[in-house]
Amino acid sequence: MKCAFLAIITLLSCSSTMASPPDGETLFQDNCSVCHGPRGMGGSAPKLAGDASEWKSKVFERAVLSGIDDHGKPLKAPMPHWAGTSFKSDNGAMPSKLEVDAIQKYLHQQK
Ligand code: HEC
Repeated sequence: MKCAFLAIITLLSCSSTMASPPDGETLFQDNCSVCHGPRGMGGSAPKLAGDASEWKSKVFERAVLSGIDDHGKPLKAPMPHWAGTSFKSDNGAMPSKLEVDAIQKYLHQQK
């Protein structure tokens, strides 16, 4: 009986962790800041805060996931096509739109 009770508690705490929204700041720092600079202010790659951070979310998602910019042009290397890879903490799973939206929201707050 005690075990069943503990199993339920464990299940509940796992599902509540999964339901929490992705942390855009951590995702950005772990996966993007090496090129786009701390807080998206620019580095070897363009500034995102105050620029791509203001694009429509569909346009931003397309740029990040498929490497197509706001003018419909392909983004050059070394910008990764994230749909073909995975964010560091995701263990090989393809990035979700929710995660990309969380990154954009974080960048929007940086300008
Ligand atoms: C290895 C370096 C590198 C990493 C890591 C990287 N990028 Fe980029 N990114 C670039 C480069 C270089 C460009 C410019 C490409 C061009 O001008 O064709 C770019 C362009 C972009 C653009 C288009 C900007 C514009 O104004 O046209 C967006 C949006 C973007 N990156 C988002 C991200 C996000 C979000 C991440 C993390 C999930 C990320 N990038 C990770 C190198 C990188």
